[in-house]
Amino acid sequence: MAPSRTLSIIKPDATRRNLTGAINAVLEESGLRIVAQKRLRLTREQAEVFYAVHRARPFFKDLVAFMTSGPVVVQVLEGEDAVERNRAIMGATDPAKAAPETIRARFAESIEANSVHGSDSPENAASEISFFFTPAEIVG
Ligand code: CMP
Repeated sequence: MAPSRTLSIIKPDATRRNLTGAINAVLEESGLRIVAQKRLRLTREQAEVFYAVHRARPFFKDLVAFMTSGPVVVQVLEGEDAVERNRAIMGATDPAKAAPETIRARFAESIEANSVHGSDSPENAASEISFFFTPAEIVG
């Protein structure tokens, strides 16, 4: 099976606690390769567009405030079945329900401040990757 790609975000709760390296180590140990990465501060508009699918949810305003509260690290991960592999490593959205040893079980603070985001389908991965990266910035 050919390698595929997914978009990952290390969220402000994790960058604040200096966990970028610890999370990257988990990703790399799982066999995923970080083929693009940059640290940035999302604008409110960027966060609203990125999470537009959640616009009607009661937690949307808080989510945008949280995602713009500090730096994030956006990354492209590459590997076999990258979307599903990354979702397995991240664990459930709610850290209380995440399997032991997953990133969210180990590091997340709450259902909102849950340390990482990962694309939920190959189609969304493609659009989320192009939201942050040009093809020339991705070096496989
Ligand atoms: P993520 O995988 O980035 O996708 C949407 C985000 O919204 C999610 O991670 C959490 O950060 C946040 N989120 C999802 N559900 C809730 C909830 N019930 N309450 C607060 N935040 C949530």
